[in-house]
Parts: sequence; C-alpha cells; structure tokens
Amino acid sequence: MAAMKPTQQREYGVKEIAKLFPSLMKIKKKSLRKKVAAVWNEAMTTGCGGKGWTFAELRAVKFTLLAGDIDMKFVEHLNSCARQCIAITDVLKKSFRCRIPIQRDYLIAGALLADVGKPLEYDKDPSGTVVQGKFGQQLRHPFSGVALAYKHGIPAEVMHMIATHSHEGDKVERSIESIIFHHADFVDFDIAKFLGKRAAKKREA
Ligand SMILES: [Fe+2]
Repeated sequence: MAAMKPTQQREYGVKEIAKLFPSLMKIKKKSLRKKVAAVWNEAMTTGCGGKGWTFAELRAVKFTLLAGDIDMKFVEHLNSCARQCIAITDVLKKSFRCRIPIQRDYLIAGALLADVGKPLEYDKDPSGTVVQGKFGQQLRHPFSGVALAYKHGIPAEVMHMIATHSHEGDKVERSIESIIFHHADFVDFDIAKFLGKRAAKKREA
C-alpha cells in the first residue's frame, strides 16, 4: 500500500460529495443522502490501489477507458445519468395514465452509486495514466460497488441497480429503476463510443 496522502485523512460528508454530484441533494430522505455520501467517501479515500483520489484527480478521470480519445469525464457522466433519470421519471409520469411505480429516491441514489466502485477498479500506472488496476481486473465496479454499499447500509433496491446496471446484469430481470438507469447509462456510453471512433478516424486521416 502506498503512503497515505494528507487528503485521505479527512472525511467527505454530504456537503462535499454534493459538490461533485449536485443531484445528491435531490434525494429527499436525509439518512439515504448521508449513506450515499459515506459510500462515496470510502470509495474516494480507499480507491486507486489504496492511494485514494482527490476531488481534482477524480474530476480529471475520463468517462470510460473503453471509448478512445474523448473529452467526456467520469464525474460529468454520473451527473448526466442522475439528471437523465430524473427527467425520464418526469416524462413517464406525464405520459402514461397508469401509474408507473418509480421510487425516486432509490433511483437517484442508484444513479449516483452505480459507478461508485470505479475509483476502486481504477488505478494509476507509474506514468500517472488511469488504468484498470489489479483489484479492478478481479472485481469490476458493479461488484465492488455492491460490497461498498452493503457496508454502509444502502437499501437492497439501490444495490440491485449497482449490481445490474452494466452487462453483468443482462441475465437478471432489472427493476424499473434499474431499467431507467441502464438506458441513461448507455445513452452516454454509446455516444462516447461514437465520438471515440470518430476521433480515431480523424487521427488516421
Ligand atoms: Fe458502470
């Protein structure tokens, strides 16, 4: 384990985590908000192969390592997904006469926590490039995300979203909240892939 950085010794609470993820404040139940912040605090301070991430370092992380050279950032993606989930819920509510049972607080919490395992999945190589670390090769973020969430008493409905949001969940019947998040996630991801391909073509030309 690398030496502790001074930034690691502090705890990030709701106020600080909400600076990274403003949608945290859209969670109505205060105790859930607190738990979501506690999970993020642990991910930030213990991730990166044990070195931890500062806010600035996390903000600089690319949205995905799988899409080539694009300018979309990881933190922006999480905020985009949380906002998309809220917007989708509002549209569904207005569009259908029948009531679609969506647990809004759980949806927002799940959107903010789906990728909380990524700070653990990712590490930095000696040159400072963000890569999938040793830990991440064994446990991709849906798994480590659930482990972290369980530790902090996150409800099962929200852990279900973390567990099933990615392709690992393709064989599971996703809840309504998980369906919504999964699609929002792939709106961003498919666009990132598209932009990555286009950037690669430009470089070849
Ligand atoms: Fe993910």
